[in-house]
Formats: sequence, C-alpha cells, structure tokens
Amino acid sequence: MSEADVVLRARSLKKYYQLSGGLFGQPATVKALDGVSFELSRKQTLAVVGESGCGKSTLARLVTMIEEPTEGSLEIAGMELANASAETRKALRPKVQIVFQNPYGSLNPRQKIGAALEEPLQMNTSLSKAERRARALDMMKSVGLRPEHHDRYPHMFSGGQRQRIAIARALMLDPDILVLDEPVSALDVSIQAQVLNLLADLQERLNLAYLFISHDLSVVKHIANEVMVMYLGKPVEHASREELFANPRHPYTQALLSATPVPDPARQKQRIALKGEMPSPINPPSGCTFHPRCPIAVARCKTDVPETRAVGAAKVACHLAE
Ligand SMILES: Nc1ncnc2c1ncn2[C@@H]1O[C@H](COP(=O)(O)OP(=O)(O)O)[C@@H](O)[C@H]1O
Ligand SMILES: [Mg+2]
Repeated sequence: MSEADVVLRARSLKKYYQLSGGLFGQPATVKALDGVSFELSRKQTLAVVGESGCGKSTLARLVTMIEEPTEGSLEIAGMELANASAETRKALRPKVQIVFQNPYGSLNPRQKIGAALEEPLQMNTSLSKAERRARALDMMKSVGLRPEHHDRYPHMFSGGQRQRIAIARALMLDPDILVLDEPVSALDVSIQAQVLNLLADLQERLNLAYLFISHDLSVVKHIANEVMVMYLGKPVEHASREELFANPRHPYTQALLSATPVPDPARQKQRIALKGEMPSPINPPSGCTFHPRCPIAVARCKTDVPETRAVGAAKVACHLAE
C-alpha cells in the first residue's frame, strides 16, 4: 500500500470518560480507549473485534468525529484533526460515515426512503431536486433496492433491506471511509452473507476503506484484510486476516477463535473457556489487564504491562506469546 492510499491514521488514541461520582461515590475515570494505533487504506477493511465493552463503539465515535479524543492523534485524508480549523473539520466530516447495528435508530420512521437518501444531499450540496432524486435512485440500485422503494417507509422493509438503506444513506456524500459498527449482528445468518457481499462489492467499486466493528470473529473472517483484537480499550493483537486465523498468538485471540464455530467439527480446536467476566475499565487489573482471565498467565503478568511487539507477522501485547 502506498502512503497516498492511507485515508485514516490513529496514533495512541485515547478516550477517557470522567464519572462525577454519586452521593457516596468517588469521581472515577473510565478508560474506554487506552492507546490505539492503526492505519487504514483505500479498498482495505480493518476489523476491530472484541467483547462488548472493550471500546469498539468509542473508537467509532472518535473516527466519525462525533466525539473528540482525550489524547492521541487522528488523521483523516492526511489532515490532523487535533489542529484542524472548524472549517477543515466541517469539510472532513462527510468523508467518514457510519452504519449502525440497528438501522431503525438512524432512519426516521416517518420519512420515506427517497427523502432519507436525499436529505444529506440537500444539506451538503447545491444539487437540484431532480438531481438529488436521480442520485438517490442510482444509489438505491447500487445497494439492490428497486425504484418503487423510493416512496416507501422504513417499516415496510425487512431487516436486511433496512440495512441496505442505511448503507445507501451513508454513501450519498461519497465518503472515503465507512465505519460499520456491528452492521450485520442483528440480521439472520443467511441475510448476513448477502449484506457482507454487498459491502465487499461496494468497497471495490467505490474505493472505500472500512473500519468494520464486530464482537464476532467469524463475521469478519471473509471481509477483513486485517484484524485488530481489543481488550479493555487496548489492542492485544493486530495481524493480517490470514495470519490471525491461522496463527492466533494472544491467548485472548485464541479464546475468541475457539468459541467460533468451524465448518468441520473434527477440526474444532479445543475450546478455551474464558474465566469470569470482562473487568470494568474504571478499575482495570494491574499489569496485563487480561491476566485474571488468562489460562497461561504467570506472576509477571500481574505486575508488568506488556509492550506491543512483533511476534512472527503479528503485533502482540503479551509477555508469553511466541
Ligand atoms: N459516555 C460514556 N461515559 C462513560 N462511560 C462510557 C461512555 N461511553 C462508553 N463508556 C464505557 O466505555 C467502555 C467501552 O464502551 P463501548 O465503546 O461502547 O464498547 P463496545 O462498543 O466495545 O461494546 C464501556 O465500559 C462503557 O461502559
Ligand atoms: Mg458497541
């Protein structure tokens, strides 16, 4: 990948939330995202995977400029957001669009599909009504909807179709980056595959970069080029898709993988059960935050924070990975 293809770059990105503390509670800091670095290029998909609460949606809110980082650097289309003027930020905003798990939340139930698709054009461009309508019909075709759907309301569609509408809406302003936050998690497995195929097709045609968020490794197995596994706000392993699925190095990645079904049960690796629940990011465990649940932890894991280092072709934050 050449430097010019990089559309998104995060360096040591952090997001801390301050909780004021109730009547008896102490003020506390939630380290929702605690040092995340990656690059994303055109036509590439970086999957961000981890259990609920590990910071995936927080990362999505930073990348889409809904919230500002507490610390660290975020570059969109080569522009550093921290130093950007209000004008630059405004110009960059359409470049990154988001698709949520539940499109019902982002679609107005009283707005027809055509109007929903034309609205971003109305707010951000000087296109005429006829031009907006033509663009909407075009985009509907691109995502597999028919012209007669233009005048229908969201409730008249199936879950898969509604997700197609949400994708179409996200694409109306010709973004460089789509943040997909659990985009198929609410859909039936058969429909998931259709939507994933559509996303792959759109990426190729429109040169899109995807930040694909999922709690489920099996969902990203075919669509991702790279996978970043997160635990309590930090990446624990980052590798190419092939490498990560063939040689998972971090015990957490291994546990996530062993919990995903494989087509041939004879090849099912021994299931590694994770002990206990994910701890709270308000008071994370010392040393390696994964140590209380780790099947191979040693004394050092309780005291020393593991540096991210190269292990084979992967980047891994674990004292013991080899
Ligand atoms: N606005 C907020 N205020 C306080 N804590 C938050 C806020 N948003 C998220 N968190 C906390 O940050 C952590 C990460 O949340 P989130 O990014 O939603 O995780 P995920 O999407 O991976 O499930 C969770 O512990 C969550 O409770
Ligand atoms: Mg989330």
